[in-house]
Amino acid sequence: MTRRKIIIDTDPGQDDAVAILLALASPEELDVLGITCVAGNVPLALTAKNARMICELAGHTDVPVFAGCDRPLGRDLVTAEHVHGKTGLDGPDLPEPKMSLQDQHAVDFIIETLRQQTTGTVTLCPLGPLTNIATAFERAPDIVDKVQEIVLMGGAYFEVGNITPTAEFNIYVDPQAADIVFKSGAPIVVMPLDVTHKALVTTPRNEAFRALSTPVGIAVAQMTDFFERFDKQKYGSAGAPLHDPCVTAYLLRPELFSGRQINVEIETQSELTLGMTVADWWGVTDRPKNALFIGEIDADGFFALLTERMARL
Ligand code: RIB
Ligand code: CA
Repeated sequence: MTRRKIIIDTDPGQDDAVAILLALASPEELDVLGITCVAGNVPLALTAKNARMICELAGHTDVPVFAGCDRPLGRDLVTAEHVHGKTGLDGPDLPEPKMSLQDQHAVDFIIETLRQQTTGTVTLCPLGPLTNIATAFERAPDIVDKVQEIVLMGGAYFEVGNITPTAEFNIYVDPQAADIVFKSGAPIVVMPLDVTHKALVTTPRNEAFRALSTPVGIAVAQMTDFFERFDKQKYGSAGAPLHDPCVTAYLLRPELFSGRQINVEIETQSELTLGMTVADWWGVTDRPKNALFIGEIDADGFFALLTERMARL
C-alpha cells in the first residue's frame, strides 16, 4: 500500500491531539511530512507547544513541527479556552516539550513541500482555522494544483453552529481564509459538525482508552474527560465529540464515512451569520460542487480503529 503523504495543520486542542496521535500510530498508511500550527483554540505559542508535547507523548520527536500564523486574515483572533482550558490541552499532566520548533515558518514549509513533492501526492489535513492554508495559497497560487486533496474538519449545516447560531469554530475564526480555500479549486473533503457530533466519546468508549493502561491511552482518556464537559453541558450529549480525529480516520478507512458532493460557500460579510458554511445539500443552485460534505459515520467502527491504533503507541 502506498503511504499517503500528509501535512497536519492544527490548533491543539484535545481533539487535535487525538487526530495527531492516530496519524502517528499509522505509519504503514500515513507519512506525516510535518505538523504546522495555527492560532485557534488557544494562541499560537500554545498550539505550537501542545503539538510538540503530543509528538513526544507518541514517541515521535522525528516529526518536524512548525509555527504558522498567529492571527486570522483581517480580523482579531477568537480562542476557545472555555472548551479546551487555558493551556488548550487541559486534562493530562504532560511534561514541557524538549523538542524544538522548526525555524522555518509553517506557510513556507507548506509552499516548499508542495513545490518539491510530486504533484498530487500531498494531502493537507487542516484541523483548525484555515489561516495557514489560505496564506500559502495566496502567496504561491501555483501550489493549489499540486495538492492531492484537502481533508479538513470545519463547518456545519444541519447541525448548525457551535460558536454562533450559524457558524462552526474553525470557519468562524477565519472566514476569509475559509473562503479562499473553498474557492481554490483543490479537491476538498469536509468533516462538519454534522458528522463529528456523531463521534461521541461515551463512557464505555473512554474507559476502553483508559483500559489500555499506557501513557497514551490514559492521556487520551484524561483529555476527553476534560473536553466533554462543554458539550455535555451545552448539548446534553453522551460524551465529547471527537471532531478532528474524523479527518485522520477518513484517510485510514474512508468506508467508515459517507456524504454528498455539493457546493459549499462561506459567509464572509454578515455579522449575523459570519463563518457559516452555506451547504447546497439539495442542489438548488448551479454553483460548482466543490466539496464532499460528510454527514454519516460508522461510530463503532471509528472507535474500534481509534482504540486499536492508540494501543500501538
Ligand atoms: O468546532 C470544532 C473545531 O474547533 C475542532 O477542530 C476543535 O479542535 C476546534 O479547533
Ligand atoms: Ca482543532
